[in-house]
Amino acid sequence: MSARWFTNTNPALRRFWHPVAAVVELDGPGPHPVRLLGDDWVLAELGGEWSVLPATCPHRMAPLSAGQIVGDRLQCGYHGWCFDAEGSCVEIPALGVGAKVPPTAHLAVPFGVEERYGLIWVAVEEPVAPIPSVAEWDSPRFGHAPMPRQVWRATAAQMTDNFLDVAHFPFTHLDTIGNPDEIEVGNIEVSRDGWHFQAVYGHTARSIEQSAAAGAADADVVERVMTFTCWAPHHLRLFIDYGPDGDLLLLFFHQPIDDDNTGLFVLILAENIADGRMTAEDQIAFQVAVGSEDRAMLERLRVKAIPLDPGFETHTRADRTTVELRRLLSDVWALATDDEREGVMPASIAPPAANYAHARSTTGAAVWLHTSGVVPIAPDGTVPDGLIAQAEVIWANIAAMLEDAEMSGADVVSVTTYVTPGLDLAPVMAVRDQALGGALAASTLVVVQELAQPEWLMEIAIVAAR
Ligand code: FES
Ligand SMILES: [Fe+2]
Repeated sequence: MSARWFTNTNPALRRFWHPVAAVVELDGPGPHPVRLLGDDWVLAELGGEWSVLPATCPHRMAPLSAGQIVGDRLQCGYHGWCFDAEGSCVEIPALGVGAKVPPTAHLAVPFGVEERYGLIWVAVEEPVAPIPSVAEWDSPRFGHAPMPRQVWRATAAQMTDNFLDVAHFPFTHLDTIGNPDEIEVGNIEVSRDGWHFQAVYGHTARSIEQSAAAGAADADVVERVMTFTCWAPHHLRLFIDYGPDGDLLLLFFHQPIDDDNTGLFVLILAENIADGRMTAEDQIAFQVAVGSEDRAMLERLRVKAIPLDPGFETHTRADRTTVELRRLLSDVWALATDDEREGVMPASIAPPAANYAHARSTTGAAVWLHTSGVVPIAPDGTVPDGLIAQAEVIWANIAAMLEDAEMSGADVVSVTTYVTPGLDLAPVMAVRDQALGGALAASTLVVVQELAQPEWLMEIAIVAAR
């Protein structure tokens, strides 16, 4: 068996509930495009209930998000075919009233769609576990503050790993909750029960009310007990007994959008909102500030996956909780068969000196490889080792990934180079030509004002197929 890399498109995720939208953020009944586990769908309110249908019309593949809701049906905008909430094609206008509809005109809808906690949840296949149950949701003791949905360039498992992790507080969160005097991680009680586990951890942190009002440096250090509940595959509840600041419950629900992106829904339930000590807006602003510290770090992780096999990461006693997450994810992994699971991560490839590279291959009729590397800019504005050396590193990594996928330069179908204006590209192109060994590939140069990260100077992306 090849190494197990848990990505956002693991087929086992089809057997769990995932949120795809917050109802308050939807502008009308739709149809709204949504993306889950790498697949596109449309969300539409049909007959007073939210329905999820495939994104593409079976007639001429028009996007159904460009259609309209007519009564309790979704009508394609191209030739007017109409679909009901179950995906059945109930009318083909061009055939006239009462005409027989071909069997392939119907759409396959997901197993289930539910509205809970103000979110719309989807299970693509019959789920093995219910939508997480939160007893405090209806309690008047807590005021509610739903954070607007964010999209992070990280996987849902990586984000859950981060939210469960306590060792990073005094480093990543110095400007919000982190207490620089509490660096060592104490005992964490972890207990597993079926498709979820609990972790209890008592420690000290900055007072949330004071930190939100006056900044972390002036906030008192308070004792708090955190109780995490992690539900498979990657939903999280964090209950914090915050001493004088009151109880705080944070719900982290993730939408694995595709291999690189995850929608994050954080629902905040706070006693100090209910009793008027903090406003919902202040709580949201504070949690957004904490989250942006995590996000800045997570978006820098090169591989968008969590390895489940030992040896790829180094675990310590302080990582007890996040090791348990890997055990839980291993059980999720086992739900899918090897045949279903064709995604392969570049486990055998040495990390590049440049800081971004990425590969996927899918089998079936064809193998596809998408990979890229970047030329970084150091804080002083120079390129470490020079542009040519960096370009050579990128191509060395691309070559390693090609080899890993049993491909060669001859299988490269396109090369796209993204640059900012004013670079001398001739030497970079020479490195490319040498790396491709004379093989022909479509090559595109895209000049942009800035790349995805400000510390990048150039990005080279390739697609190969066999
Ligand atoms: S493409 Fe949708 S009705 Fe023709
Ligand atoms: Fe964090």
